[in-house]
Amino acid sequence: MKNFISAHDAADIDGLVKKALAYKADPFKDKTLGAGKRIGCLFLNPSMRTRLSTQIAAQNLGMDAILFNVGSEGWALEFEEEAIMSGNTVEHVKDAAPIFGKYFDVLAIRTFPSLKNREDDYSELYIKQFIKYAGIPVVSLESATLHPLQSLTDIITIQEHSRLKPAAHKPKIVLTWAPHVKPLPQCVANSFSQWINAWGKADFVITHPEDYELSEEFTQGATITHNQDEALKDADYVYVKNWSTFKDYGKIYESDPQWMLTNKKLEITNQAKVMHCLPVRRNVELSDEVLDGPNSLVTQEASNRVWAAQVVLSEILKNK
Ligand code: CP
Repeated sequence: MKNFISAHDAADIDGLVKKALAYKADPFKDKTLGAGKRIGCLFLNPSMRTRLSTQIAAQNLGMDAILFNVGSEGWALEFEEEAIMSGNTVEHVKDAAPIFGKYFDVLAIRTFPSLKNREDDYSELYIKQFIKYAGIPVVSLESATLHPLQSLTDIITIQEHSRLKPAAHKPKIVLTWAPHVKPLPQCVANSFSQWINAWGKADFVITHPEDYELSEEFTQGATITHNQDEALKDADYVYVKNWSTFKDYGKIYESDPQWMLTNKKLEITNQAKVMHCLPVRRNVELSDEVLDGPNSLVTQEASNRVWAAQVVLSEILKNK
């Protein structure tokens, strides 16, 4: 593995899941693989789980991890080629990224979309410029449109549970839109769709209100319905996430509380396990009763972030 930006970088998803679960069983089995190597984790936006799990994963492999909140503590970076830097940006990525390439062996970056201009966000300029100029492997800690470490974690978590069921059972996985108070990126929903489709081991249904269609680039292959009850019927896993509009970009048209998952709604499912990437707005996106109930996988899911990061870093280290 050279970079880790999307599902396209995972040639064998089942193989990664298997190795990740082996790390979960024995976290230090490759404790010298990263000895003498250093990962730089740059955050242009806030994070809790991604930041801590990536650092733990690196340490489990014997790597040093240096975290830098470049968004709040670093110079304001410019990403546009041939920019006349007479505005607020202080340093061009063309100058900064090669320095990171000398300081680190692997670079990991979190950026978010502006949600103002769809073409700009979906061009993934920030992460592409780091890949172009750093000269070392780049791992996405969430980009403008995708969150691959989260999605790999989600498949690890589903697979972990599916092992308890008969092998012939193809799980029904439902991605459902949930209400929120502010416009959120489409990254997690795009990425989950991309990975579940690439994995190809599930009956995959996406449900959302009208006008909340995601990009077909990621959803193609899924069944899409505006009827949440119909989608939830017999579901084995329900993945809850809010996202803002894609077509009329970055808007909230409605936040109908009826879309929040409750225990009553779970009755339609096949005793579905409930997933969410966190952070979650309690009693807006997901009810207390579901989050605190026996169907919730959210803590296990977040803890599995370590093994997803560890397997990705180990694949990159083995390729260096
Ligand atoms: N799920 C996730 O990426 O969490 P953080 O934003 O806290 O890293």
